[in-house]
Amino acid sequence: MTQTITVIRGDGIGPEIMDATLHVLDTMNLGLSYEFADAGLVALEKHGELLPAATMDSIRKNRIALKSPLTTPVGEGFSSINVELRKRFDLYANVRPAKSFPNTKSRFPSGVDLITVRENTEGAYIGEGQSLSEDGETAMLTQKITRRGSERIVRYAFDLARRTGRKKVTVVHKANILKSTSGLFLKTAREVAQQYPDIQCNEMIVDNTCMQLVMRPEQFDIIVTTNLFGDIISDLCAGLVGGLGLAPGANIGTDAAIFEAVHGSAPDIAGKGIANPCALLLGAAQMLDHLGQPEKATALREAIIATLEAKDSLTPDLGGEGNTMSFAKAIASRIAA
Ligand code: NAI
Ligand code: MG
Repeated sequence: MTQTITVIRGDGIGPEIMDATLHVLDTMNLGLSYEFADAGLVALEKHGELLPAATMDSIRKNRIALKSPLTTPVGEGFSSINVELRKRFDLYANVRPAKSFPNTKSRFPSGVDLITVRENTEGAYIGEGQSLSEDGETAMLTQKITRRGSERIVRYAFDLARRTGRKKVTVVHKANILKSTSGLFLKTAREVAQQYPDIQCNEMIVDNTCMQLVMRPEQFDIIVTTNLFGDIISDLCAGLVGGLGLAPGANIGTDAAIFEAVHGSAPDIAGKGIANPCALLLGAAQMLDHLGQPEKATALREAIIATLEAKDSLTPDLGGEGNTMSFAKAIASRIAA
């Protein structure tokens, strides 16, 4: 059976890591066919809009997209297309695993195996109430947390724990200070947790969580948290295990799912052919799990680990002298077809 997925090559290092990723996927006999679609800067140049209707239609039809990073200018300029895609398709769960890999330049070459489940549609990222006073002295924004949004993300985290045999969910919050928003999230999380007596649940305040993650990351299994905290914590977790080049993320909704790398378009190394393709490849592995091909997902992850173990053609971020495509080829050569 052929499954069509929407492929967004992105900008910056996006096209380089996507070519490498598709090279690996093509060696795996997955029955995938690709429908290429544009978004972000590339779409703006080609079609005059950041998110063309054809791209939206493609994702809506295929329900699965593999996406490279898209640049969002800092401060002024257009709002994030990544945030927009998550909002438009109501991709409420951002699932970001962080796992120790061999031969990375990491403080934790072993012992880290956790998943951050980040609420992806609410919190500080709703893009509402952003204002700057006329004198330029006062800026404001609105944060929104709903019971529904909190309930479904916490439920997702506990269901994920059950499905994957994980034992503990840590609810990360700042309800001591952000009493209304984080307070509602925590209260709802406690209610949901009661329905999962088989899964241990604990609560941790976000600043302490950051310290604990750096000191003793092995105590974490699944973390569930609101949008902004999840964004920051998942980059922190990526740093624990060897950098953004190894950190994937899935954006999951009821009607669609978009798989990507946690990292951005890395303008500092774009065009040099040295970006690490593993984050997007691991995103593709999450996609294969989602598509009901867990053996293929495992084969892909094992090939990545074997390539890291052999230090074969690793990219410079991992201390190697390989490049994006040679690394991908080394991985592809280790996949049993
Ligand atoms: P970044 O993640 O692009 O880069 C941070 C650092 O990590 C840079 O030094 C970069 O060279 C390095 N890095 C990232 N990916 C790498 C890889 N695969 N291999 C080797 N090194 C890698 O973050 P930055 O610079 O803050 O953001 C750049 C742009 O990307 C911004 O416009 C931002 O809005 C956008 N962005 C897009 C995301 C998405 O499409 N989902 C996510 C995060 C940022
Ligand atoms: Mg981020």
